[in-house]
Amino acid sequence: MIPFMIDGQSVEGKEGGSVLEVALDAGIDIPHLCYHESVKPYGACRLCLVEVVRRGRSRMTTSCTYPVMEGIEVFTRAEKVLRARRMIIELILAMCPGDKLIQDMAREMGVNQVRFKQDDKDCILCGLCGRVCEEVVGANAIQFAFRGDRREMIPPFQGEAMNCIACGACVVVCPVDVIKMKEQRDERTIIRWKRTLKMKQCKICGNYFAPLFQLEKFKEQAKLPKDFFDICYTCRA
Ligand code: SF4
Ligand code: FES
Repeated sequence: MIPFMIDGQSVEGKEGGSVLEVALDAGIDIPHLCYHESVKPYGACRLCLVEVVRRGRSRMTTSCTYPVMEGIEVFTRAEKVLRARRMIIELILAMCPGDKLIQDMAREMGVNQVRFKQDDKDCILCGLCGRVCEEVVGANAIQFAFRGDRREMIPPFQGEAMNCIACGACVVVCPVDVIKMKEQRDERTIIRWKRTLKMKQCKICGNYFAPLFQLEKFKEQAKLPKDFFDICYTCRA
């Protein structure tokens, strides 16, 4: 374990861990939108900015990407840190003025007006959906496209996400809840990625329990018997 200080408090972190993880574990609140424990840090939202002093030199950095190091001093609530975070949340709010979570975060951080040109996007470009899809699910169904103002998370060629297995992991991780999934009898649709898949029906209870395409992928990857998913998870238990 590596000892260091956060806001005058002694903490310890695992080698390879990030300052943000240690802070959150210690109950020190640092706002963050693009961090998730199950994927690699990406540094997209920049909201987790902190001041780090190392060998007498101070710098502002994103705490989700900054590795724990012995002897560093981290300041999460220095005035220049709070000022920078206010500017960042104001920019995110200008991009997505209708997002309830962003509105609430901005208010909590003392931002009551937006001085920048407002857009009407709903996605904050945190990249979590794409990273979970790639790193955890292994489907690579969606990715960032375009640059600058036009940047978007989309399926290839903006059509149906043909690699999507409709597992719903992206629905769960999206911090602003803009990826919706709907189920109708034997079909599941991930609306944002224009992906609709037929569901498998359990041979015992008759419930539709998972997309066929997803189960076929799992069987192929894990070399499972052909009839492995003939019964649902509940009936199997
Ligand atoms: S859709 Fe949601 S998870 Fe994906 S990049 Fe946008 S805000 Fe992040
Ligand atoms: S949580 Fe660190 S940059 Fe987004």
